[in-house]
Amino acid sequence: VDPSVDLAAEIKRLKKEKNAVVLAHYYTIGEIQDLADFIGDSLALARIAEKLDNDIIVMCGVHFMGETVKILCPDKKVLVPDLNAGCSLADSYPAPELEKFIGEHPGHTVISYVNTSAAVKALTDIVVTSGNAMEIVNSLPADEKIIFGPDRNLGNYINSQTGREMILWDGACHVHEQFSLEKILELKKQHPEAKVLVHPECPKPIRLVADKVGSTAVLLKWAEECEFDSFIVATESGILHEMRRRCPQKTFIPAPPADSTCACNDCSFMKLNTLQKLYNTLRYELPEVTVDPAIIDRARRPITRMLEIK
Ligand code: 13P
Ligand code: SF4
Repeated sequence: VDPSVDLAAEIKRLKKEKNAVVLAHYYTIGEIQDLADFIGDSLALARIAEKLDNDIIVMCGVHFMGETVKILCPDKKVLVPDLNAGCSLADSYPAPELEKFIGEHPGHTVISYVNTSAAVKALTDIVVTSGNAMEIVNSLPADEKIIFGPDRNLGNYINSQTGREMILWDGACHVHEQFSLEKILELKKQHPEAKVLVHPECPKPIRLVADKVGSTAVLLKWAEECEFDSFIVATESGILHEMRRRCPQKTFIPAPPADSTCACNDCSFMKLNTLQKLYNTLRYELPEVTVDPAIIDRARRPITRMLEIK
């Protein structure tokens, strides 16, 4: 690292010079969010990607988000700052196992959370995000038989809200599984006025103490528009940056993980996106996200179906 390089200034210059656009998820570090052209949840980023006319798209998030952009924009150069930025939830859903599972449950519609590999999307009928999953499931006939994966917590939440009995894959996100109910209740005692914001990837006991359950974008909007001033936030800690930027007069308290010696409410994959790596990515146009063209064609259908429904 050459300390004389002003990374932020260079990133801005390279974006312009190369007609590149930077997308960032709310869980990335604040400096990346500040330099991004667009920030959003998985749904918003997919929608934005579809409409871009830049030559290069840099996706600061995790690998499946880069793949989603590539599937929607196969002719663009799609880059990510670090190819090692995976997702424990996506990893819990290997395509060959899903294929076998589908074979064991004939006649089911396959709904997959966007946190999945391109190969899983290619086996899927409709992709959903945490921002639209409920409405998409509700848009299907009540007697439709559904396989939902990989997140058992989101699936369980949808089943409980809709009265459906979707068959759930047994996957989970290591960050959202870490929150401790006891510690949230302790915090509530110290801040009785605070409202609890919970991502649907959290397990049921955490969701049951929520004042609002929703995707990152839904939680942000609710915190911004409601009359309350103080919140306990049970999702990845990167979201606090945008919450505090939008509502500087409000208080946001991160919900602690069960093990207070670790920063488990940080997604280590998201945090692999650093300014230095973003600069290198723009400068050298590497690493590039590639998806097998045969997979792209099959994986695009369930994403487009999602974007058409909601
Ligand atoms: P959102 O779809 O709410 O942005 O969440 C993405 C994610 O990775 C959650 O852990
Ligand atoms: Fe995946 Fe969890 Fe990180 Fe989201 S927070 S990207 S679900 S590992």
